[in-house]
Amino acid sequence: MIEDDVREDLLHVLMSKEEIQQTVADLAAQIDRDYADKDVLLVGVLKGAVMVMADLSRAIRSHITMDFMAVSSYGSGTKSSGVVRILKDLETDLMGRHVLIVEDIIDSGLTLSWLKTNLESRGPASVEICALLRKPEAMKTEIDVKYVGRDIPNEFVVGYGLDFAEQYRNLEFVGTLAPHVYS
Ligand code: XMP
Ligand code: MG
Repeated sequence: MIEDDVREDLLHVLMSKEEIQQTVADLAAQIDRDYADKDVLLVGVLKGAVMVMADLSRAIRSHITMDFMAVSSYGSGTKSSGVVRILKDLETDLMGRHVLIVEDIIDSGLTLSWLKTNLESRGPASVEICALLRKPEAMKTEIDVKYVGRDIPNEFVVGYGLDFAEQYRNLEFVGTLAPHVYS
């Protein structure tokens, strides 16, 4: 079982399966309220946001449509630079649409800041952001994130879509990675 194998790779569980489900349900309730009279297009950012997308979209009671984008941000090591490349673009025309970007985590905020500007240039009615997790660095950027599940300490986390070297995405919880794994 992966969850037994990874125990020694993790310092602690940051968000249990139950806490994630409650947080996602709370986000969905806010989104339902704010978009009661609008059709919203959820834009998931691959690959990290797939779990949030799958659970959030099913917790939302309003009509939604979904699309996905994949981007890569260049930077030294684990830090993103804000220079972003589109690996997979949307298939949806955003003209007049209410767009909600769905992300797993905001760290520096540089990637999302670029993405929001990019989507805004395509003529949508609105572009907002929903992120399950936010690190303190993100608070220093200009980016306005309308929906945040939880603010977390500045530690590297994995699970529930979040990876280290493509591992751990399928954990049902979010855990803090032990430094011995990446150093
Ligand atoms: P920025 O800094 O542009 O980058 O907000 C956000 C992206 O960086 C990745 N990231 C993480 N991935 N655990 C991860 O698995 C983390 O703790 C972490 N912090 C940042 C992630 O891809 C996110 O979309
Ligand atoms: Mg990501």
